[in-house]
Amino acid sequence: MGFTLHEKSSKPTLAILTVKDSSRVFRGNLDNFLDLIRTGERYGLDVYVVTTKDFSISNSEMYGYRFHPSAKKWSRELVPSPQVVYNRIPYRKMEMKPEVQQTIQACKRSTSIHLFNPSFFNKWTLFSWLNSAKESKPFMPDTLQMNEASDVSQLLQKHPVLYLKPVKGKAGMGIMRIDRVNAKGHSGHYRLSRLHEKKMVYSYHNTADDIWQEWDRHRGGQDYIVQQGIALTRFKERAYDLRALVQKTAKGEWNVSGIGARVAGKASITTHVPRGGSIDEPRKLLTYAFGAKEAKNILKRVGAAVVTLATQIEKSSGNPLGEMSMDIGVDTSGHIWFFEANSKPMKFDEPRIRQKSLERIIQYSLHLINSRRRR
Ligand SMILES: Nc1ncnc2c1ncn2[C@@H]1O[C@H](COP(=O)(O)OP(=O)(O)O)[C@@H](O)[C@H]1O
Ligand SMILES: [Mg+2]
Repeated sequence: MGFTLHEKSSKPTLAILTVKDSSRVFRGNLDNFLDLIRTGERYGLDVYVVTTKDFSISNSEMYGYRFHPSAKKWSRELVPSPQVVYNRIPYRKMEMKPEVQQTIQACKRSTSIHLFNPSFFNKWTLFSWLNSAKESKPFMPDTLQMNEASDVSQLLQKHPVLYLKPVKGKAGMGIMRIDRVNAKGHSGHYRLSRLHEKKMVYSYHNTADDIWQEWDRHRGGQDYIVQQGIALTRFKERAYDLRALVQKTAKGEWNVSGIGARVAGKASITTHVPRGGSIDEPRKLLTYAFGAKEAKNILKRVGAAVVTLATQIEKSSGNPLGEMSMDIGVDTSGHIWFFEANSKPMKFDEPRIRQKSLERIIQYSLHLINSRRRR
């Protein structure tokens, strides 16, 4: 078995998997990779970067990249076949390429390699997984796939605000919102809001069919879901949501590494920082709306909810996962809502969460390696 080969090398090994790049060697957030390599050093884990092009399942060595601090350079050199593979391929399109899928599938089949987070999530798939399990269902907003105009009219009868979201979207891209409006001065009962070149664009409509046609013109060929709009709790008139990082621990159990908050820009329909949003402290924001005692209670419930949700997502996905970030809404009555989970979490800017996130990736990798040894 490939496993015996590793016994020769002194250190356990972790490969960060990404794709080749013609202009800058390989893709991904290089600072992020570097931080992980450094954290690995502290824990005695040999961490390096490998591209799908160089990855070889059958050899005991392959070409990878190591960073040399003295030269301030990444260098391509022979590295041992890894025991753990951490998938950080940054884009869906790249991950879907046949040659990339070949590598991922080979890792999944391999008995000597642990691969975690084998793919991106899809917002509709996530919803169907979580809505069908009784533990996670209470956190799910009413959601339908956008298949025909009646999907929109059906939800419009039940909810005053709807969100339209591309199933493969990220960073707020392509998100639209439908509001019921008082017709005064407008030629429609419904307002459709969407972002176009960093500006909000509004259109007014009377029927779901009209909304559908307008959406269809701007969807860019993407599949969408339509979702109940949650009346998010506010801080000084600004909506915010919570971003939780959930990771496996050194014991291989799901745990919250940290919870941050993203406050929306004044007129924004999402809370993304590049869209005018900003970072803030969840406890402060929730205390403003609910008081200190209830704020503490809500955060505790959010912590429990995201662990439940992560456990269910991993179970339904049928794939080993090591981490995910989650966007969570808290409404004005203190109810907790799931918006989405991301299997390639972005770097958290909160230093404490950031530090923990790195340590946990390393500790979980060591756990995977050691649990195999014991078997
Ligand atoms: N159903 C909803 N009700 C209220 N706000 C929502 C809803 N869905 C999304 N949002 C807002 O839009 C943001 C982006 O939505 P999300 O589902 O996370 O998509 P993306 O992949 O673009 O980040 C959320 O963080 C939240 O602020
Ligand atoms: Mg999001």
